[in-house]
Amino acid sequence: MLSFLLQTATVAQMTRATAAATTANPFMWYVTRAAAVSSYLTLTTMVLLGITRSLVRIAGSRASWMLDETHQFLAILTAALVALHLLTLILDPLIPFSLLNLLLPIAEPYRPLAVDLGVLGLYALVVVLLSSWLRRYLTHASWRLLHYTGFAVFLLVTLHGIFSGSDSGQPWMVVVYLVASAAVLLLTLFRMLWLPQPQAVRRTPARTR
Ligand code: HEM
Repeated sequence: MLSFLLQTATVAQMTRATAAATTANPFMWYVTRAAAVSSYLTLTTMVLLGITRSLVRIAGSRASWMLDETHQFLAILTAALVALHLLTLILDPLIPFSLLNLLLPIAEPYRPLAVDLGVLGLYALVVVLLSSWLRRYLTHASWRLLHYTGFAVFLLVTLHGIFSGSDSGQPWMVVVYLVASAAVLLLTLFRMLWLPQPQAVRRTPARTR
């Protein structure tokens, strides 16, 4: 029954989409894509700065306030650009996304599996942002655990962009995905493998003469 209702809703949406596509102005679609690509760039920079911050701390120095402020500012900018990406999807008459399509990963009217990954990426992003804003109410360990969800956001959104985006085939966008993924992967490996963990540093016994 549920599957029948979802199929009926999808067919109705597609019929409206076909009718709208013949007359619609693609302006909103361009804004959706511009906001999507911009949010991907700010997300990537935010993740890279987060890992850099942790590397600086492990190396024994204090992260500069500018690094912290930029990391936090990029989080707000990413949230705003994602909001624009989603708002323009709803306003766009070309493909009729409903609020439910944005909130639940079911019955998407466009490249369903790839868009589902975007919805899951949105959930993960909300977890990261909310846990940071509510940090003072959490223990450091639980905040850190929730903050690691940032890696899931990056992975889900990268796959979402590659498989749903109209620009994925463009050489410049291929370069964006490759450079972003390589940078996050390399810096993460560097963080995991090549530098001592903070506990290990603290536990190293003092040298005796
Ligand atoms: C409810 C959640 C989401 C939905 C329904 C959604 C939907 C879409 C759709 C329909 C497209 C295809 C646009 C096109 O043809 O270019 C797209 C592309 C894209 N989205 Fe999302 N998205 C969501 C979440 C996100 C999030 C959280 C981000 C980033 C932080 C994001 C980043 C991207 C990127 C980078 C593209 C590729 C744009 C392009 O190739 O021009 N999306 N999204």
